[in-house]
Amino acid sequence: MIELTIDGRAFHVPPGVSVMDAARANGIDIPHLCYHPELSTPGGCRLCLVEVEGRADPVPSCQLPCAEGMAVRTQSEQLSAMRREIIDLFVSDHPLDCVICDKAGACLLQKYAYEYGVSETSYDKHIARSLYQDDNPFFVRDHQYCILCGRCVRVCEEVVGASAIEIVGRGFDSHVATPFDGPMIDSSCVFCGSCVQVCPTAALMPRSRLGQGREWDLERVETICGYCGVGCQIEYALRDGRILYAQSTPGAPVNGEFLCSKGRYGWDFATHPDRLARPLIRRDVAYRLGLTDEPWELPDESPLDTGEGVIEERFVPVDWDTALHVAADGLARTVQAHGPDAVMGLSSARCTNEENYLFQKFMRAGIGTNNLDHCARL
Ligand code: SF4
Ligand code: SF4
Ligand code: SF4
Ligand code: FES
Repeated sequence: MIELTIDGRAFHVPPGVSVMDAARANGIDIPHLCYHPELSTPGGCRLCLVEVEGRADPVPSCQLPCAEGMAVRTQSEQLSAMRREIIDLFVSDHPLDCVICDKAGACLLQKYAYEYGVSETSYDKHIARSLYQDDNPFFVRDHQYCILCGRCVRVCEEVVGASAIEIVGRGFDSHVATPFDGPMIDSSCVFCGSCVQVCPTAALMPRSRLGQGREWDLERVETICGYCGVGCQIEYALRDGRILYAQSTPGAPVNGEFLCSKGRYGWDFATHPDRLARPLIRRDVAYRLGLTDEPWELPDESPLDTGEGVIEERFVPVDWDTALHVAADGLARTVQAHGPDAVMGLSSARCTNEENYLFQKFMRAGIGTNNLDHCARL
């Protein structure tokens, strides 16, 4: 372990850890824009400068490995002045319309502008990037808010492996682009939305939340994504009980800050009017059991064929006890008449591991068949 001091406090850290990570692990927040804990560190924004005893000039802490006996200062008048200057430069080509911005309250640029008292730029204001790209169903790209931190580019390349976007151009012409600046759909983008999650400003925003409320208006609900067996931790942002968008729970041990497109954008089923919210049994079975007065004959085609009003016509809602009793009875009769291999079990990726374990146990030990499969290949 290496011993160093940060703001006068001694810490022990493993070799290879950056001063930024050592500080954050010990509750010291060093301002940063381009740094993201799960991505490489290009050291581009310079906001994370710190002073190191014995070195003439401040150094970016996200790129500075801890060293034995190092003495680091994260706050000083000199550092505050430098950070103020950096933010001043950032806002010289940033609209600063925080009063109408959906990202207000969650924007890192806004946070540091507030903390360092930068309300406007002292330079000539010039919004270099005005492109607004609304070319896919999932997120919009509003380049005037982009600070070219490069997080989106790095997450796409380093975590997702899609390399769909890159920073192109020089100087004021620099911007994040797909190949030939074409629509996202024509790039290698897989619409995972990871770039949207790591973007520190309003440059990348989920379409579903635009104009729907700002950070402090939204309620957060944490849950586990039900789409596959990975079980990513997911956080829904809701307003008035409606889901506005999903993101990975920051710091989630399974999936970090990343989700696939199903978890991030496939949540509209939750409140969809067609969602089955109660157990149903087929109308002819319900009639035989006296649960409905309306007789019904099983058609030649599958009773599960979809179509307007088909579910209501062919099925009857019942309570769970009744549904389980009917299912158990049907299984028992089939096994008695035709043997255990006459039935099969299909389990669900939306169940927990424990539930799936119990289900296979039930099929193998209870029913006595190995006819068993699982739908984890969504
Ligand atoms: S992106 Fe951030 S700094 Fe820019 S207008 Fe929105 S809240 Fe303000
Ligand atoms: S949505 Fe995913 S694949 Fe597409 S650009 Fe963003 S990070 Fe890359
Ligand atoms: S779009 Fe967002 S994440 Fe990408 S470079 Fe711009 S500000 Fe950074
Ligand atoms: S956070 Fe270190 S240089 Fe940007």
